[in-house]
Amino acid sequence: MTHTPKKRASDEGKDRVYIFDTTLRDGEQSPGATMTHAEKLEIAQLLDEMGVDIIEAGFPIASEGDFRAVSEIAKRSKDAVICGLARANLKDIDRCWEAVKHARQPRIHTFIGTSPLHRAIPNLTQDEMAERIHETVTHARNLCDNVQWSPMDATRTEWDYLARVVEIAIKAGATTINIPDTVGYTAPVESAELIRRLIKEVPGADEIIFATHCHNDLGMATANSLAAVEGGARQIECTINGLGERAGNTALEEVVMAMKVRGDIMPYRTGIDTTKIMNISRRVATVSGFAVQFNKAIVGKNAFAHESGIHQDGMLKNAETFEIMRPADVGLAETNIVMGKHSGRAALRSKLKDLGYELAENQLNDVFVRFKELADRKKEVYDEDLIALATTEAAED
Ligand code: KIV
Ligand code: ZN
Repeated sequence: MTHTPKKRASDEGKDRVYIFDTTLRDGEQSPGATMTHAEKLEIAQLLDEMGVDIIEAGFPIASEGDFRAVSEIAKRSKDAVICGLARANLKDIDRCWEAVKHARQPRIHTFIGTSPLHRAIPNLTQDEMAERIHETVTHARNLCDNVQWSPMDATRTEWDYLARVVEIAIKAGATTINIPDTVGYTAPVESAELIRRLIKEVPGADEIIFATHCHNDLGMATANSLAAVEGGARQIECTINGLGERAGNTALEEVVMAMKVRGDIMPYRTGIDTTKIMNISRRVATVSGFAVQFNKAIVGKNAFAHESGIHQDGMLKNAETFEIMRPADVGLAETNIVMGKHSGRAALRSKLKDLGYELAENQLNDVFVRFKELADRKKEVYDEDLIALATTEAAED
């Protein structure tokens, strides 16, 4: 049985970038990030609802639990394509198909390591590996008409060999070719050029979608993914909060918001409802047990928080002074004005007003002095502290 995938680059225009989320597969491969069956179903539903185009739900042959989760996610899927991962052998691919076939739009994703280091592991010659790729992609395509193929460690694979195997996979029926930067080794200028060159030089490359899959070992995953899009990739593989092995994968929230905020220089569209970002970020942090660092772009606790007096004053006058996104764009109710020793009088007045205290100028001056004394002793001054200061002041007058 075959299914027609709903979306193709040509269907929606050249500026449409598909978001492929692999939180439940590559993200879950992070040591310690294992999720329960129920948690995986919940995250898959949230991903589908936020407009993720393709959900990589797991690695069906890896365990009974993975098989069950991918099958169930496939059955419950709505708009998203549901993808499972399979190594380059017929048994893996059959098992993957058994799990994803329940989806309205299933995809098989099969891969093999093509760089010299990775070829050495199964001890295959270049020709033997090429034959294996032809055989496995053909097999996958006979089961499903939506097949993704990845040359693992593509960015450390010799150009000639990479071009050769990509052509073989396309001829065997792959509809998406993913170019993984498996160890986070590439840099933006290379990332763009690699995709550009593959599209230009590999026969049949203009008929399929190229994907980018970056790891963050050198902190360049977001930049490399966006550069690959500049080079012609139209699928970004990513995870919520950048969860993933070692330093993680490209963070979904970063690439999506970068394209949204800087549409002037990156004129691309995704189908993501960005107002759902914060909620899913918090859920993934909770269920994976991987807390989000405070200063993480977009979803960190401090991403929309201001403590310094100059910043707070600017924010109170015009939020754009120190914020390039509105908190509401990512599903956050409001900017957090944090009261601490760097805060100024304007922020104090505004905060007290929000708490229901409108003080005369001399009262505010007194409270401000005591607030600064307290802030020197505490990292953060909470609303309760401010209420106590304001109430004492009112009682003394
Ligand atoms: O990083 C990688 O190469 C992968 C592949 C399985 C696509 O995750
Ligand atoms: Zn990966």
